[in-house]
Amino acid sequence: MAKRLFVKTYGCQMNVYDSARMADVLAPLGYGPADHAEEADMVILNTCHIREKAAEKVFSELGRLRKIKTARAEAGQRMILAVAGCVAQAEGEEILRRAPFVDIVLGPQTYHRLPEMVAQAARAGGAVLDTEFPAEPKFDFLPEPLAQGSSAFLSVQEGCDKFCTFCVVPYTRGAEYSRPATAILAEAAKLAQGGVREITLLGQNVNGWHGDEGWGLGRLIRALAEVPGVERLRYTTSHPRDMDDELIRAHAELPQLMPFLHLPVQSGSDRILAAMNRGHDRDTYLRLVDRLKSVCPDLALSSDFIVGFPGESDADFEASMDLIRQVGFVQTYSFKYSPRPGTPAAAMDQQVPEPVKDERLAQVQALLMEQTTRFNHSCVGREMRVLLDRPGRHAGQLLGRSPYMQPVHVKAAAHLIGTVVNLRITKVHPNSLEAIPA
Ligand code: SAH
Ligand code: SF4
Ligand code: F3S
Repeated sequence: MAKRLFVKTYGCQMNVYDSARMADVLAPLGYGPADHAEEADMVILNTCHIREKAAEKVFSELGRLRKIKTARAEAGQRMILAVAGCVAQAEGEEILRRAPFVDIVLGPQTYHRLPEMVAQAARAGGAVLDTEFPAEPKFDFLPEPLAQGSSAFLSVQEGCDKFCTFCVVPYTRGAEYSRPATAILAEAAKLAQGGVREITLLGQNVNGWHGDEGWGLGRLIRALAEVPGVERLRYTTSHPRDMDDELIRAHAELPQLMPFLHLPVQSGSDRILAAMNRGHDRDTYLRLVDRLKSVCPDLALSSDFIVGFPGESDADFEASMDLIRQVGFVQTYSFKYSPRPGTPAAAMDQQVPEPVKDERLAQVQALLMEQTTRFNHSCVGREMRVLLDRPGRHAGQLLGRSPYMQPVHVKAAAHLIGTVVNLRITKVHPNSLEAIPA
């Protein structure tokens, strides 16, 4: 009988990719998708450890799943419960101690071994824990991904050697690893054959990617732009330190590379950037932005900011607000600093009081909202290439994405799903744009 798998994903796009790949790995064992945990024979929580709240959510979700698991057991049905991702990597033992009803705990680098773990969990009474950083890259063992829809993620790089003082990623994902170009090109070709038109390259430091051949990401993007069927390319998340000339040139020369770049800066204050160990200052970042905009005038930028990093004064915070205005970010993610166990910043003096963080977050978010809204209004009247990727909310309407990731509604026939069309933006709604054929 077919078995059903429910995967719940937290955290970044890398986890979204990993969740899809875990489902691919389990498909040969007979697992198809379930809509709810209640009806699943196996549930995987793919977790995120980046901030305290994210990690806490996992334990509260486990409490809920325990009840479902018990109810199923009473009805004579088994539910295998697995915790994957970055909380599993960082707190594997703790999970098994606090939630002994969990069957499998696995890190982000071992999910190609899931079939063995499932077999082992079925045999053994106890739990299976696998949070190694194996020598063999998991990518060599994963089945080919199944294309779904017209836009797909493709993981090209993992891990981080940068050690920003606030961040758990170097500990949960391990050292930087780049997949070989040949494997990436083959995966892209497969996706394109399956109808994918837009590929987003993923990595914790995606522009730190380097091929065995001495290639950098700019060269890889150039090769991917040649893959038949691939019409649009994006990459995320990049680090300012790894933005080299070749990649900047790719923005100038390749129409397939979308003019939208997520380039996290975290703070606008040199003092805080140094304490964060970011390896760049404000001026270097601004000069980089100038270079990018001079070769690609259409380019829009988004970023990540942390407010309330230890020692952040009012003046440091103002420097961040000022940088946001100066660069004119069209979108940004901002977070209150969250002390993470084992990271250097958690032990720093001068932790910022919670109410101050709240106030700064509110200010930074209001400014960003204003800039996003202004950008959306500046798009009215512009012609844009939009990838139509799903039906809209109303009959006869389709929904797509602009080059800047804005959702765009248009009246269009259903057969146009999966195509890139020229549209003229006519109106701004709170969370989307409206357009007509250009
Ligand atoms: N590799 C990427 C993103 C890593 S995590 C980069 O270098 O930018 C995504 C975002 O979470 C970070 O950019 C940062 O803004 C935020 N973040 C990471 N650790 C955090 C912490 N301890 N508290 C608050 N925000 C954090
Ligand atoms: Fe974390 Fe910094 Fe690495 Fe990004 S570059 S993953 S913020 S340590
Ligand atoms: Fe979270 Fe791990 Fe991604 S900590 S942000 S899921 S790399």
